[in-house]
Amino acid sequence: MYKKLEKCLKSIRKKTDFKPEKAVILGSGLGDYAEKIKIEKVVKYTDIEDFPVSTVQGHKGQFVFGYVKDVPVVLMQGRVHYYEGYSMQDVVLPTRLMGVMGAKKILLTNAAGGVNPSFRPGDFMLITDHITTAVPSPLIGPNIEELGTRFPDMSEVYSKNLQKIIRKSAKDCGIPLQEGVYVQLTGPNYETPAEIRMVRSWGADAVGMSTACEAMAARHMGMEVCGISCITNMAAGVSDAKLNHAEVQETADRVAKDFEKLVTDVIDAI
Ligand code: HPA
Repeated sequence: MYKKLEKCLKSIRKKTDFKPEKAVILGSGLGDYAEKIKIEKVVKYTDIEDFPVSTVQGHKGQFVFGYVKDVPVVLMQGRVHYYEGYSMQDVVLPTRLMGVMGAKKILLTNAAGGVNPSFRPGDFMLITDHITTAVPSPLIGPNIEELGTRFPDMSEVYSKNLQKIIRKSAKDCGIPLQEGVYVQLTGPNYETPAEIRMVRSWGADAVGMSTACEAMAARHMGMEVCGISCITNMAAGVSDAKLNHAEVQETADRVAKDFEKLVTDVIDAI
């Protein structure tokens, strides 16, 4: 796996020697954000040797290197999901790649279903912790010693310090911010009401199909991690509504302006 990572890094370094300080994974609704920053270089996933390529409609697949308020960043426009059929190791390869490119901090964003009944579609949720019990760990397999230890601590995956900064950013932007625990399930199907009752009893506030595995891989290699979910819908059974991808995208698009504003402020502040 480390060899594969090195090969991808070499492939990117042939195109750019840009050194990002911070990495951002753009979830649904933030798809256009990358076009709004000061772009230095775009590298398509398909142009990186051995790179897992995303298949989801509406997800662009590229790294965008550039500046947000003078901060050198790498943005992932389109992520790789486990439900596409990749191994978890491949799913987190892009995260690791951004780490070895030099990013010390990573902001993870996503669209998620609201499990906490006090949430509303269109809310933003600061991720304070996560549950990944229902998906394989990306750290299974031979440990990549070059990146981190065999049994990494996960007692503070989402940096308390960065959480504090994000709360202040949201306040400064005048954007209300919920907070809670994100649970990652495999997808691609949405959950049943019984599954949502289960994850609620586990302590989850939001449910999605990404992010937590990336957070784990980033922590493993010592990056500082933070995350924000856009609650695009109430999870199955929390409201009577049936779920569909169009609704998720619609809500994400509706609040995209605020999400972009918050993300810009957070990138600068963290
Ligand atoms: N479940 C899982 N993933 C999601 C959801 C959901 O309800 N909404 C957006 N991503």
